[in-house]
Amino acid sequence: MRISVVKETAEFEKRVALTPDLVKRLCDAGHEVMVEKSAGEAAGFLDDVYKSAGAKIGKAFADTVKGAEVVLKVGALDEKQLPALNANTVVIAMHKPHDSKKLFTKIAKQNVSAFSLEFVPRITRAQSMDVLSSQSNLAGYRAVIEGAYEFDRAFPLMMTAAGTVTAARVLVIGAGVAGLQAIATARRLGAIVTAFDVRAAAKEQVESLGASFVEVDYQESGEGSGGYAKEMSEGYKKAQAAKLHEVLKSQEVVITTALIPGKPAPILIPEKMVADMKVGSIIVDLAIESGGNCALSKPGISVTKNGVKIVAHPNMPSRIAYNASQLYAKNVYNFLNLLIDTKSQALKIDFNDEIIKGTCLCHDGKLLHSVFES
Ligand code: NAI
Repeated sequence: MRISVVKETAEFEKRVALTPDLVKRLCDAGHEVMVEKSAGEAAGFLDDVYKSAGAKIGKAFADTVKGAEVVLKVGALDEKQLPALNANTVVIAMHKPHDSKKLFTKIAKQNVSAFSLEFVPRITRAQSMDVLSSQSNLAGYRAVIEGAYEFDRAFPLMMTAAGTVTAARVLVIGAGVAGLQAIATARRLGAIVTAFDVRAAAKEQVESLGASFVEVDYQESGEGSGGYAKEMSEGYKKAQAAKLHEVLKSQEVVITTALIPGKPAPILIPEKMVADMKVGSIIVDLAIESGGNCALSKPGISVTKNGVKIVAHPNMPSRIAYNASQLYAKNVYNFLNLLIDTKSQALKIDFNDEIIKGTCLCHDGKLLHSVFES
């Protein structure tokens, strides 16, 4: 069958959905792969390398998706692209369908099927398809690198003949996939790292990476469903704010990663806390795409307030596009194989499979995901 890989059109997006090594594997399995011209260029994968791997190069979106049974993308479809898609095409991407019911009603009407990889359930069998983990891990690493770049002091302790440079103090808020990688990266660079999360399970993981865990003096579990955090009570939020306010005064680089699935990110650093931070401190807000954890964060713009610089790059994984594409492509490839019959290599979609069911947004002309219910 024909599998198409299209060029991303969204601002800040440099990733590509399939890398040449995986194009080769699909071609070896008997598929025809069409890659839109310069689809991988921003991530460091050139058309010639795709050609050598067996792909054909499509001039533009419409040529690339013509006759395709499967279209692979990183981000959501652009509404303008819809007319070029054939009925029965399967589009696999991170569609971010919250608030896009209108778009998906159109997609369904066209009889196009959409699968959204952010909804891959967090079960062992699906780990190799878990795009949230693969991309968050790189984002956590990159956030520390961005913080270190913006910070005009060193991370490690250095004892020199000319004097001692003290180690940077790094605070990581939210110790999920991105936060744990941020802790590990900041530790490798020699910083003294403190971290915080509402989920009690995070304490042991933080400590095992050599960071200290901030305890909030309030009895409430932050565990929501599926291992994610829940929104905390007003009482907890008050106690947490008081603790964070105190801790922030001694920190120099703060990486915020706190997210609650399907909700805006909690504002954990209001302006008054920024005002009490040390001059020269940096906040890197990784939660910006869900609104941000710092009240002063502005997507794509550095804001300096009272000598504290707040940076909030939209799409952090795209700032490490080569590796992010490699891992995303592997997630996509593994998911695609779940939709393909091993013997015939034709599409065979089993809606009883919880991974397929959990990720399907629309199929057969119908909206199928609970995300469209609210
Ligand atoms: P996420 O990206 O949804 O959120 C990031 C972190 O922010 C989470 O650790 C969350 O607890 C924390 N957070 C939320 N509100 C907060 C607040 N008010 N203050 C401080 N921290 C706050 O989370 P992510 O990284 O996707 O991980 C969620 C869970 O899923 C974790 O328990 C992780 O270990 C687990 N997981 C399981 C996998 C599997 O079983 N295959 C794969 C990856 C993660």
